[in-house]
Order: sequence, then structure tokens, then C-alpha cells
Amino acid sequence: MAPLKITVIGTGYLGATHAAAMAELGFEVLGLDVVPEKIEMLAAGRVPMYEPGLEELLAAHVAGLPGSTGRLRFTTSYEEAGEFGDVHFVCVNTPQKHNEYACDMSYVDSAMASLAPHLTRPVLVVGKSTVPVGSAERLAAKLVELAPAGADVELAWNPEFLREGFAVQDTLHPDRIVIGVQGERAEKVLREVYATPMAEGTPLVVTDFPTSELVKTAANSFLATKISFINAMAEVCEAAGGDVVKLAEAIGHDERIGAKFLRAGIGFGGGCLPKDIRAFMARAGELGADQALTFLREVDSINMRRRGHMVELARDAVGGSFLGKRVAVLGATFKPDSDDVRDSPALNVAGQIHLQGGQVTVYDPKGMDNARRVFPTLGYADSALEAARGAEVVLHLTEWREFRDLDPAVLGEAVTDRLVLDGRNALDPERWRAAGWTYRAMGRPFA
Ligand code: UGA
Repeated sequence: MAPLKITVIGTGYLGATHAAAMAELGFEVLGLDVVPEKIEMLAAGRVPMYEPGLEELLAAHVAGLPGSTGRLRFTTSYEEAGEFGDVHFVCVNTPQKHNEYACDMSYVDSAMASLAPHLTRPVLVVGKSTVPVGSAERLAAKLVELAPAGADVELAWNPEFLREGFAVQDTLHPDRIVIGVQGERAEKVLREVYATPMAEGTPLVVTDFPTSELVKTAANSFLATKISFINAMAEVCEAAGGDVVKLAEAIGHDERIGAKFLRAGIGFGGGCLPKDIRAFMARAGELGADQALTFLREVDSINMRRRGHMVELARDAVGGSFLGKRVAVLGATFKPDSDDVRDSPALNVAGQIHLQGGQVTVYDPKGMDNARRVFPTLGYADSALEAARGAEVVLHLTEWREFRDLDPAVLGEAVTDRLVLDGRNALDPERWRAAGWTYRAMGRPFA
């Protein structure tokens, strides 16, 4: 039997990584995107965003690059994709709708509608995007209606759990593979696609459509809840004089709780967690199950409070008003090892301070271009040292390794006041204090 040919529709963080990983696993892969510039970059082996390890995978597989396997090609044509693929992975994004909690399904709907007319033989379409529960059933019926091959076109739902910054690693070595199917053929085909990771012992969970869709939103809701839980504890610690970092360490030793995702600070952001919990609440409301998720409203508001609290701490630190004050901001991305500034707590805090009259200078190792695009009126510098020059307070808002490795003594020469606020509880307080800095963090006693 000929090896399966795979298309990947949508080449953002998820799709570009999935396409490259499938080529790495030995499949012939065609990546499709409707944005020609993205396709041109990828076809030349360049990654349109920062994702560690992805450029190396492209170099190894993109057709036409010297020494590559040639297994990975790119196109903007749905006709070509329809002819090529036995399995079509749909990886387009589902952002939050403007001024609404619900997510915008228009990219998924349009990808399915554009692909379907070109499906003339039995194939499997696999949804990987994060969608409101109930979408898969609706889309499966739509595909059958629009595809010339009719009922020979099957749909499966296969949520993705990769983290930005670890996308390659998470795709090649997932914690688990979850597939939602309506028939045995879809399961058989997906077992073949994932034979390599499964052979390495990755658990496979086979279930129905609604459960597979819910697994993804449940997982992200749990992670968001864990972060807001520890941030709520940070609020109480601040009121009571406790230390949230010690508290997290102590409760994390209990295996039932676990130590991960308990870092208190300015909270979660990015293109997934915030919009996923909101879309989940919106969908539960439509289903008449809104009461089940009211706690997520609290998770969201604890999270948003963190940003305001950081602004307050900074304002107090500079004497009650930002007017005429220079503020250095280290970090713009929503987390380290990414250039993504979508719903970034760091950029939000920087923006609030700027709007309150502070002179803000931001530096981020990878997020400068995106930050400038989103918030062009902030000041930007080419290094942490430059950002700190003349600053009355330094805010550490994204925990890049580069910031942990900074020499506080050297930075201390650049600033007006040696005052650092750690919004991620990631710097070493002793090192900074030893270099003459006043170090303050969220949820910890001020020394
Ligand atoms: C998240 C999930 O972790 C992935 O499993 C999921 O596949 C992905 O969303 C998605 O839905 O596509 P990601 O958005 O890349 O991944 O980022 P995370 O590593 O989850 O971090 C999210 C935010 O939480 C960041 O702003 C981070 O700084 C913050 N965070 C994380 C904390 O504030 N404290 C922690 O202890 C951990």
C-alpha cells in the first residue's frame, strides 16, 4: 500500500509545525495557506514566526533546499491540495470574536468549504483547530454535502496540545494523542499516521466528536484555573505577609497537585488560554450549561486583575504618579521563547503605564517587531541595558533566560534608581539585592 499523502491547511504556529513534523515522520506533505507571503517564506525554508527548532526541520525537508528530503512542499491552491492529499489536517486559527466571548469560526468554515469541492475520492479530513463543542458534527455533514465524493469523505477531530516555544518537541513527542471519530476507517487511518509517536509509547485516546472537542477546552481551562488559583493565593499572601513562591513549592510537592503551572505573576496571555476560556463559557451558555462554567469568569477576572496590580505596584514604587518617570520594561511577548504578543500581559502593562504618562522603554529578545506593530507609540530599545538607561524602575514582565542571566551590577550602572519589580517571580532576589537593588515581586513580602 502506498504511504499516505498529507496536506496541512493553515500554516501558523500549529500548521507549519505539524507539516514539518509530518515530513520528519516520513510522509509526503503539502502545506497550504491563503496568504501567499507566508507560503513564499516557508517554501524558501524560512519560518514566519519565532519557534525554536522549526527552521532546522524545514531545512531538512522543504523541496528544493540543498540536501533536503524534498518531502515538504507548499501551495496556495485548494485544487492542488484536494488532488494531493489522502489525509487533510485543518490547522487554521479560531480567534476570539471582536467584542464577544465566542470564537470566530469563519477560518475553519472557509477552509472546509474551499477544500470540499476538490475532494473527489475517499479521504479523511482531520480538524485540529480549537473549536466550540458541536462543530465537528456540523462540519462532517457539510463536507459530505459539498464534496463530490460525498459520504466517502470522513471527518475526524484531533485536538492539538502543543505549546508555543516547544511546538516541535510537543508535536514529535506528544503527551497524548486524542482522536474523535464517528467510524472505524477514520481511526484506522489516524493510527497509521501516528504510528511512530504511538510506537514510542504515546497514549492514544479514541472517543466521539464532542468529547474530543471538549478535551482541548477542558485542558486549557484547567491550566488557566491553575494559574489563576496561584495568583489568587498571591493576592492573599500579599495581604497576609506570606510568600507565594514558597507556598507554590510546598503545595506542588503533593503529586495530586503537581508543581507545574504554579508560577504566580502578571498572569496568562497569548492566543489560546484567554480566548479559549471565554469561548468555552459562551458555548456552555448556548447549551444551557452556563452555570457549570461560571467559575471561569472568576479565573478570567483574577487574571486580568494581575495586570492592573502590576501597574499599581510600579506606580507606588515611583512615588504615586508616572508623570515624567522613566520605566524600563523587560519583555513584550506573552511568554519566553516566542515572538507572539497576542494578549500579552507584558505589553498590556507597558501600555497602561504609557497611557498614564510614564516614559516606557521596552526591550524583548524576539518580540520587538510584533510589539512595535501592535503598540507603535511605546519607546523601544535594542537591549536590556539600553532600555534601563535612566530608568527609575525596571519591570521584569516576560521571563526570558536572557533576563535571568543579566548582571544586575552592570544594569545598575545604567539606571537612576536600583529598583526592580519582578512580574514573573523568575529573577533571583539574592543576586539583585547583593548588587544593591531593591527587589520586589508579586505575592512575596517586600524585603
Ligand atoms: C497553551 C497550552 O499550554 C497548550 O497545551 C495548548 O496546546 C495551547 O495553549 C493551545 O491551545 O494551542 P501556550 O498558549 O503556548 O499553550 O502557552 P502556555 O505555556 O500554556 O502559557 C500560557 C500563559 O500562561 C503564558 O502567558 C504564561 O506566561 C502563563 N503562565 C504559565 C503563568 O503565568 N504561570 C505559569 O505557571 C505558567
